[in-house]
Amino acid sequence: MIKVNLNVKELYNSDFNFLAKEAEYICLKNYGKKVFLRALLEFSNECKMNCLYCGLRKDNRNIKRYFLSVQEIKKIIKKNYLSGFRTFVLQSGEFVNFKFNELCDIIYKLKKEFKNITITLSCGYFTKRKLKLLKESGVDRYLIRFEVADEKIYSYLKNGLSLKKRIEMLYNLKELNFETGSGFMIGLPGENDEILIKNLELCYKLNLDMIGIGPFIPHPDTPLNYLNKPSFEKVLKITAILRILLPYSNIPATTASGTLEPYGREKLLKVGANVLMPNITPPRYKKYYLLYPGKICINENADTCILCLKQKLKKINRELSFDTGSSINFTMKNNNLELNYGIN
Ligand code: 5AD
Ligand code: SF4
Ligand code: FES
Repeated sequence: MIKVNLNVKELYNSDFNFLAKEAEYICLKNYGKKVFLRALLEFSNECKMNCLYCGLRKDNRNIKRYFLSVQEIKKIIKKNYLSGFRTFVLQSGEFVNFKFNELCDIIYKLKKEFKNITITLSCGYFTKRKLKLLKESGVDRYLIRFEVADEKIYSYLKNGLSLKKRIEMLYNLKELNFETGSGFMIGLPGENDEILIKNLELCYKLNLDMIGIGPFIPHPDTPLNYLNKPSFEKVLKITAILRILLPYSNIPATTASGTLEPYGREKLLKVGANVLMPNITPPRYKKYYLLYPGKICINENADTCILCLKQKLKKINRELSFDTGSSINFTMKNNNLELNYGIN
């Protein structure tokens, strides 16, 4: 096993070319050429929250809200199951309480009907009690970003909510044995090097199974519409550092990064990312799921994206994989195996 000096501050101040090379080496060593695919279904854009940065915020009246029925969800999953997908990410805004039972019911039915699928949920904050019910319904993985590891900025962006509570939820997820994903945005207001280092340290401390990061892209219908996007170089560097810090975690090359930069996803796969999340939401709904403007693949259907990704990966000497692709962290933990990686 290679030994790296895992002092986050030191890594952060290291030369990019060194970080990129190291990250690519670690990724290829641990995952080979495989890039895991996750089919992303944005099943509802309803949201009770008002996050300052997000196009789905409750106060944005310029979008049509939708909530797919169980029948529609089943139909979409079936089609993509037949294309080879076994890992599905169901994403929505934050739920109003009365829809919770509906959600459990959907998951239960999907797990019953489609054999050997893995379901990841990404629907915002839930109490431990509700997370337990979700687990019992069949949810395998959960994604919820902490967005920024700074209590003050977090609370400003999320109208007084507490970062501590969010982090508590992440520990609850781990305790309930969900494969746990989180992450942050790059380029939020008030961000500086120190905060980016804190973001990285928190990902490390949480020992996340999946880490989703991406640039903040200002949305015209939000209070933060006057801000600038971050540079893509920053996203590249942070991804490389994450791969070095968490060699056994899954790191997606996110759609927001592909939106910020042409060939952004390919470039991230070269510095440590090992997951792609093609969007299987039908284009007639996709156009209403704009967290940020200019989102790529908005008019393409899932089949077009899969073909496109296949070609893209071939060009960078990598391969699509429909494997369940649990993080190595998670697999080792569930088999009582120890990983000997540490931080200074
Ligand atoms: N730009 C980039 N990412 C965004 N998200 C929300 N709004 C934006 C934006 N304007 C991200 C958040 C959230 C995830 C679902 O999408 O990190 O957790
Ligand atoms: Fe809702 Fe999530 Fe957007 Fe916040 S980031 S407004 S919780 S969809
Ligand atoms: Fe969707 Fe290329 S990945 S069109």
